[in-house]
Amino acid sequence: MARVAIVTGGTRGIGEAISVALRDMELTVAANYAGNDERARAFTDRTGIAAFKWDVADYDACQAGVARVVDELGPVDVLVNNAGITRDGTIMKLSYEMWREVIDTNLGGCFNMAKAVFPGMRDRKWGRIVNIGSINGQAGQYGQVNYAAAKSGIHGFTKALSQEGARTGITVNAIAPGYIDTDMVAAVPGEVLEKIVAKIPVGRLGQAQEIARGVAFLCSDDAGFVTGSTLSINGGQHMY
Ligand SMILES: NC(=O)c1ccc[n+]([C@@H]2O[C@H](COP(=O)([O-])OP(=O)(O)OC[C@H]3O[C@@H](n4cnc5c(N)ncnc54)[C@H](OP(=O)(O)O)[C@@H]3O)[C@@H](O)[C@H]2O)c1
Repeated sequence: MARVAIVTGGTRGIGEAISVALRDMELTVAANYAGNDERARAFTDRTGIAAFKWDVADYDACQAGVARVVDELGPVDVLVNNAGITRDGTIMKLSYEMWREVIDTNLGGCFNMAKAVFPGMRDRKWGRIVNIGSINGQAGQYGQVNYAAAKSGIHGFTKALSQEGARTGITVNAIAPGYIDTDMVAAVPGEVLEKIVAKIPVGRLGQAQEIARGVAFLCSDDAGFVTGSTLSINGGQHMY
């Protein structure tokens, strides 16, 4: 039977590329999303991959969402924690809500989803968890204390959970993308983006597929000895 993968935020941007890459590895993929039904429908029409709506920041919704996927597709073998948001602002302008929303979605979502799938992976003695961090969690970024803290937290979460999974065939790794050409980066003002691209040694933004290929490797049987690691895919912008 085909392995089952959940990709959170799997209906657009980097998540869409990951969903497609895992489908192309013959996995049965469930792509989760938050609320953009139109984009989710278009994604399913384009790819044939089922989309499931729930909020990863909501613990109970994650339990219920994973139970639905298990019912409809089977036990979950692979989890890619990709869902993420930005609510940028310097600390002078950042509200408590902007802080909470980013921490609860980007970092809390990883915990909520891992809680829901880890017991089944442990029972079946095989699992792959890949968490999408960020170059800005490694290096920090002006105007992003919330985002950088959440993404930095993901890297610690990855190292700790990998130790809990190692003896039962579960690997836990992170990928730290640099600047990738998606809606999230399209929201950055043009003049700021130009300055960012000027600092990328390869001289361009990354493509979502370039992150997806890294995720696909980490989810494969070939990557069984890779755990607790962070793979930076950033065009040489930050060497960690
Ligand atoms: N783009 C970059 O340059 C870059 C760089 C480093 C790291 N990253 C990280 O890579 C990941 C993907 O980024 P992206 O640029 O592809 O983002 P994106 O284009 O904005 O897509 C975000 C996806 O996450 C989903 N999502 C957001 N909040 C959610 C929630 N609470 N529950 C469930 N799903 C939720 C969205 O669903 P809806 O469609 O329903 O809104 C959408 O599918 C994020 O974790 C981001 O922080 C991105």
